[in-house]
Amino acid sequence: MAKGKAASVFYCQNCGYESAKWMGQCPGCREWNTFVEEAVPVLKGKSTSRHLSQSPGLPVSLQEISLDDEDRLTTHSGELDRVLGGGLVRGSLTLVGGDPGIGKSTLLLQVCRMLAQDKRDVLYVSGEESLKQIKLRANRIGKFNESLKLLCETSLGTIEETIRRMKPDVVVIDSIQTMYQENISSAPGSISQVREATSVLLQLAKGMNISVFIVGHVTKEGTVAGPRVLEHMVDTVLYFEGDRHASYRILRGVKNRFGSTNEIGVFEMASEGLKEVANPSEFMLSGKPEHASGSIVVCSMEGTRPMLVEIQALVCHSSFGIPRRQTTGTDFNRVNLLIAVLEKRLGIQMGGCDAYVNIAGGIKIQEPAIDLGIVMALVSSFKNKCIDDRMIAFGEVGLSGEVRGVNMVQARVQEAGKLGFTSCVIPKVCMDAVKDVSGIRVIGVGSVADAIGLL
Ligand code: TYD
Ligand code: MG
Repeated sequence: MAKGKAASVFYCQNCGYESAKWMGQCPGCREWNTFVEEAVPVLKGKSTSRHLSQSPGLPVSLQEISLDDEDRLTTHSGELDRVLGGGLVRGSLTLVGGDPGIGKSTLLLQVCRMLAQDKRDVLYVSGEESLKQIKLRANRIGKFNESLKLLCETSLGTIEETIRRMKPDVVVIDSIQTMYQENISSAPGSISQVREATSVLLQLAKGMNISVFIVGHVTKEGTVAGPRVLEHMVDTVLYFEGDRHASYRILRGVKNRFGSTNEIGVFEMASEGLKEVANPSEFMLSGKPEHASGSIVVCSMEGTRPMLVEIQALVCHSSFGIPRRQTTGTDFNRVNLLIAVLEKRLGIQMGGCDAYVNIAGGIKIQEPAIDLGIVMALVSSFKNKCIDDRMIAFGEVGLSGEVRGVNMVQARVQEAGKLGFTSCVIPKVCMDAVKDVSGIRVIGVGSVADAIGLL
């Protein structure tokens, strides 16, 4: 580099890809226009070696480490505890990501309230809202006690000092994109700032055994670093998703060093904060039309919990040369593939038709077990024949038109029985795995043709 020229580097604000020169498209995540120039962080002052344990440089054997029940705190929210893998681990760093306005601050304030009621010292640091604004939100949620302390601050130095003095059990940082470290020249929200702030918090969490929650906004503009660039640094990554127009929210574990990542938590946004939804299936099926073609209920496993959701398909004559295909909540390519299977194996010609597939309620499902439901919904709409309202279907569809086995069949059938469904179309190979469920007729199908025959 030429002498006298300040060192700078370009970062993709979406995934953190580093480059010496500006690029239009990020080779890492394929997003456009996400590169922003940042000065190479020069840390002034004393060395910044980081220690994650209380006694640096002293190796210990596994036997010497003792665990006690106190290492997991309950948040008194069954749904959140489940996603966290059975409670909040002491000294853990949890990232809560999600679109702005989805309810991250509300959820964490509620968690703070429950923890404070357990006599835990909780510090809620907000860089976005004033104390009055937080108070207004808190008034909607309920009564708070003394153990919760609020701090409106964006300077990381001050926050670190406060944490060291106060020694709380739990800290919430809302949001990481507003925090800044004085000795880094780039603006708050840039990759260098966000990473540095997280690493300071990581050190505090591990060194002082504090559970830290970090809020990260998912951003579209690309000028502010998204939470994805922090995923590798933290212990647990939770994403809050859901349709902004629908009232329910889903908290999904994407990474968890202390538990399974398949679990989801379902909440409903009410006028007094987020409420847990005890029976998501019932919630998802509310509003399902009766005697409508192109609609079927499927059962998808979300972690260890079966969930019934409605799949809707609309197949109609296309007035364009290239028919439109559109999916909401499921994989676009998967639906195209299933349409191709229908054409080739069953001779159902949808080539001249527009096809729309929608998972009702705005939830996203990637599990292949919903294939059979998608296929049946498509054919039902194409032939304009209703599917029995009391029937559910699940199974993976292969390229030869065969229906392949899925896991946890018994749990899925039981869930259907619980909600009053009377028949269940399942893969033939799974028939042995189902024990009698009262009031439910189980129908095994070996191929898509068998399943279509039931319409
Ligand atoms: P918020 O937690 O501020 O979102 P985030 O921190 O993720 O940006 O959520 C704000 C939304 O939630 C806002 O649209 C209002 C709504 N809300 C309710 O419907 N009920 C409530 O009790 C509260 C506190 C918020
Ligand atoms: Mg917020």
